[in-house]
Amino acid sequence: MKDQLEDLKQRYVALISALSDEKALSEARTKVLGRKGELTAILRGLKDVAPELRSEIGRLANLAKEQLEKMFTEREAAVQAEVEKAKVAGESVDVTLPGRRSFFGRTHILNRVTDELIELFGGLGFQLAEGPEVELDYYNFEALNIPHDHPARDMQDTFYFSKNVVLRTHTSPVQIRTMEKQSPPVRVICPGKVYRRDADITHSPMFMQIEGLWVDRDISLADLKGMLTVFCSEYFGEDFALRFRPSFFPFTEPSAEVDIQCVICGGSGCRTCSFTGWLEILGAGMVDPELYRFVHYDPEVYTGFAFGMGIERVAMLKYGIPDIRSFYENDIRFLHQF
Ligand code: DAH
Repeated sequence: MKDQLEDLKQRYVALISALSDEKALSEARTKVLGRKGELTAILRGLKDVAPELRSEIGRLANLAKEQLEKMFTEREAAVQAEVEKAKVAGESVDVTLPGRRSFFGRTHILNRVTDELIELFGGLGFQLAEGPEVELDYYNFEALNIPHDHPARDMQDTFYFSKNVVLRTHTSPVQIRTMEKQSPPVRVICPGKVYRRDADITHSPMFMQIEGLWVDRDISLADLKGMLTVFCSEYFGEDFALRFRPSFFPFTEPSAEVDIQCVICGGSGCRTCSFTGWLEILGAGMVDPELYRFVHYDPEVYTGFAFGMGIERVAMLKYGIPDIRSFYENDIRFLHQF
């Protein structure tokens, strides 16, 4: 029995040092030390050994078990370390490669321009006012002096939720909402999204406007003109001439469309301004006294001006963007330029 043990030990000692992969080692371990292993069988057979030899053989068998276990564990660790080493050696690092750049998000250009406009008008004393995009017919049309059968509604066809609930077609309803809540003086700007049934290279079914409203005693067209002149030179960073063309809006009287001297060619004529030298940037006018009826202001005491500007429009002019759709296509190459 002693010889049998000795022989087993020698065979496995030789085997363990010869094996160099984890799977073979684990199989060999099971074969000798597992539940049905060779050494386990010897240990089980101890009960049949003559009593005077039992303790001696038992001691030797346990010793052999311990030794083999230790050898297996050490050999397994060594094999594992070698595998790791080979893996690292295979992954050579090219230290001359440029680093991977991390990706930074940024504010969308339209939100940036909106923030700039809020800041700029804030400096001119205008407070921020906001209204809902899903708007009542009353605020979007009715209280702006656009009754149900008025032809001006045709220019602003929109998306109807029901007969009296629409996606707002402009930011002008915020004028009414503000005046309902607050008595004069009122000096607010109202930026936000608006919706129309419109889509081409310069029109999108969803776009952004910024509305301005200033109502107080003795406000005149001169104040409007002065304020817009300051705005343009601040925003475009240069003194461009402004031109007021008579126009019509149901909520202003008189009304004007305001053109700025072409910021691209300076007025000599180019493709952007269709060779006219002028670019339309907003609609404006003196608040029609008819509106004051809806908000209970006294038209004998108060006057005011209002204007509405397309945010995409001024952003396109400032940054030379030819197509309004670029703002909404989520093309990172476009967005990352700003
Ligand atoms: N709401 C008009 C539009 O979307 C723009 C506008 C024109 C706003 C004149 C005004 C204004 O406040 O006075 O076409």
